[in-house]
This record gives sequence, structure tokens and C-alpha cells, in this order.
Amino acid sequence: NKSTYILAIESSCDDTAAAILCNDKVLSNEVARQSIHEEYGGVVPELASRAHQQNIVPVIDVAIKKAGITKEQLSAIAFTQGPGLMGSLLVGSSFAKSMAMALEIPLIAVNHMHAHILAHFIDEEGFDKPEFPFLALTISGGHTQIVKVNSFFNMEIIGETTDDAVGEAFDKSAKILGLPYPGGPLIDKYAKLGNPKAYPFTKPKVDGLDFSFSGLKTQILYFVQKNVKENPNFIEEHLNDICASIQHIIIKILMEKVKMAVEQTGITQIAIGGGVSANSGIRSALKETEAKYGWKTFIPKFEYTTDNAAMIGIVGYHKYLENHFSTASVVSKARIEF
Ligand code: KG4
Ligand code: ZN
Repeated sequence: NKSTYILAIESSCDDTAAAILCNDKVLSNEVARQSIHEEYGGVVPELASRAHQQNIVPVIDVAIKKAGITKEQLSAIAFTQGPGLMGSLLVGSSFAKSMAMALEIPLIAVNHMHAHILAHFIDEEGFDKPEFPFLALTISGGHTQIVKVNSFFNMEIIGETTDDAVGEAFDKSAKILGLPYPGGPLIDKYAKLGNPKAYPFTKPKVDGLDFSFSGLKTQILYFVQKNVKENPNFIEEHLNDICASIQHIIIKILMEKVKMAVEQTGITQIAIGGGVSANSGIRSALKETEAKYGWKTFIPKFEYTTDNAAMIGIVGYHKYLENHFSTASVVSKARIEF
């Protein structure tokens, strides 16, 4: 039984990440987060590229050391081709190309969105792998998709957002409430202490399996402005209830579409991925469906939900098994066809 060692590099947004996998097991999974963006209330692309440039060599170095291997043992290098910020992607891809060339080993280009989905195939004790076909709900700061996953490399997007991603809905709502970026985890935290039915927000009307979150953001903005006008301390006095109500409507929107996707496809295995799948309310709403509707749900280990390189590595491993390699002329793509 041959050991395949993959070095994986992820640099699509604001985290510089590197991982080493031995077959489908993760030996190391390093992330250098960029706190510089907090003071700007969002990711500044130019600053992100510069920070990647600074971090990439040390992060890869640590990943290789922690894995307990030498770079000469590597079988291939996998990197995020897209989608993402072009300047950020270029740092990871240029580094991957040079290193693959120097070591004379194959280069593997990975679609970041496939990686969020296939992260479920990392071998982890206590975590089951879904069986094909299954439905994936990919929810992050950049994406909101429902994907029908037929096999490792045959997937169809059956629903997606027509405007903001669900993570943006969380972050922009948090910003309206004066919370720092990224506000998603803070809304989650305060929501636990509040009444989800305190302020009933309304769902947007969107056909089929698609989503829309920009109208909800405007609804929340007007709601907060109106109340603050009447009571300048409205936010401080009711923060928990406001957060609980925002989280409640977002969960309602997501769960309704997932339920619709199950009805349309007849598939009852649901896997979630992406940064927003860390949300405790979404996790429990999903878990409830197991007893309620008989679905089987899959929630990845926390470190594989937000952007990470281990998920790039597992896709790299499966592409390696199929000899699905890239040439050195492969280009980064800010947007990418599924
Ligand atoms: O996957 P990710 O790390 O990066 C992207 O590819 O976008 O996702 C980041 C997003 C941010 O919008 C962040 O606010 C959100 O995930 N997020 C959460 C929670 N943890 C992270 N949103 C709601 N509740 C959370 N607990
Ligand atoms: Zn992501």
C-alpha cells in the first residue's frame, strides 16, 4: 500500500494555508490568518496579496516540519486555482509551480468550491464520509450553493445565491450593529442568549433553489435605523434578541431551500461546508432533520469548514489517483466554471 504525500496550498482569500496529507489522512494543517483586514471591516485585496507573499514560505515550512517528512518525499503539489481574489491566488499558484518544478513532481490545480465539498472525504476518526450521490450546502463569505454531488468530479450546482453570500449576510448585518469584521461568529455568540422570535424579519421571494440575501440586509438596516432613531441605545439594549432574530431568518431561508432540494432530487444525505457551517444554529437545525425527516447529515470537523489547505489536499489526492495533473502553464481564475 503506497503512501502518497501531497503538499496542499490555499491562498484564495485572506488566509495563507498549507497542509500535508498522506493518502486521505492529514499530517499537518497550518493557517496564517491575516488580522490586518479587521480595521477595514472587510478583506482588502492588495493587503491580502502582500500578506500571502510574506507568509507563504514560513507556513509551508512549518507544515512540512510538523508532518515529519522531508520535501523530497512529496508526491505532488496541489494548489487553489480559483475562485478567489486574483492577487491572492497568484501567490499560491506561482509558489506551487516553482516548487513542483524544482522537485520535479506533478502539479495539481484544485477548485476551492470542490474542496469545501470534498473535505468530507478526509479520513478523521468519528466523522463519517457521505455516499454518492449526496447534496452539499456550501455556505461561506464568498458562496452560497446547493450542489448535487454525483461522484468526486461530477457535481452540479442546483441552487445558488443571486446576490450576496450567506456569510456576507451575517457580516453585513453585524456591521450594521457596529460589530467588528467578520461578524458572523459574533452574531452566533449573541444569538445564543436571545429570543429568535423577538423581531420577525421576512424571507425574500426567490424562485426554485436559488437564494438572495441583499434584500434581507436592507431590511435589517432600515429596522435598526428606525429603532435607533426612537431609542439611541436600541442596539446595546437588545443586541442578543436582534442577533437571534437575524440568525433565525437566515437559518429558515437555508433550511427551506435544502428541504426543497431534497424533495426535488430524492437525495436525503446532506453535507455542509464553508465558514458559515461553523454556525451553531445552522448545525443544530440540520441535526434536527435526522430525527424529523430521516435525513443523514454530515458536518465536517471545525478546522475543515473555514478556508484551509487540508481540503485542497484531499482533492489533490483524489486527482493524483486519477493522474489528473496540470501543466506549468495553468492559470489562476478569479471565477471558475464548476
Ligand atoms: O469559508 P470561509 O472561512 O471563507 C470564505 O471562503 O468566504 O467563510 C468565512 C465566513 C465569514 O463570512 C464569517 O463571518 C462566517 O464564515 N462565519 C460564521 C461563523 N463562523 C464563520 N457565520 C456565522 N456563524 C458562525 N459561527
Ligand atoms: Zn472558502
